[in-house]
Amino acid sequence: MRLLNGVCGILMAASVALPVASANAQQAMRDEDVIAYRQEIMKTMGAQSAAIGQILAGMVPDKMLFSHFEILLNSVRQAKIAFEPHVEGGDALPAIWKNHADFNAKLDESEKNIVKAIEIAKKDGAGGRSGEAAVGALSCKSCHDIYKKP
Ligand code: HEC
Repeated sequence: MRLLNGVCGILMAASVALPVASANAQQAMRDEDVIAYRQEIMKTMGAQSAAIGQILAGMVPDKMLFSHFEILLNSVRQAKIAFEPHVEGGDALPAIWKNHADFNAKLDESEKNIVKAIEIAKKDGAGGRSGEAAVGALSCKSCHDIYKKP
């Protein structure tokens, strides 16, 4: 119930902005919202990576490992769309929009590795090759090093 109230609160807050957004979705897009949106997606990726680390370290139940990779997969797909608008700011470096094909290639590579990790986690649970698959799926640094402020 508390969770439900929280969700309702957010939806009510959002509904204030809805009439503006529906009038013209493109023009109503504000830079700060575009930046906040992609940062929320990245925060989800951070949370899922932390959870995966806990599972692989044997600190918590491991049955849902695959599902954390599935959330990561959706997040990477969301990120691709979220970085489409050329909105500099936050910790994003302008190089993202100068080399957008390369930036997207990194997200595609991530996506491929995560798909592999899901398959392996479904078969092996937290054991077997899952650790190795996770290293591939969580190669977040290779993008951050180039496209994100330190
Ligand atoms: C293709 C590039 C790319 C990949 C891959 C990527 N990130 Fe990011 N990430 C970024 C950029 C760019 C930002 C800065 C966004 C901004 O501030 O506008 C960022 C920001 C973040 C942030 C800070 C969010 C905030 O504002 O609090 C976290 C946490 C994060 N990423 C986690 C991850 C994790 C975990 C992964 C891997 C599973 C990952 N990222 C993969 C590009 C990437």
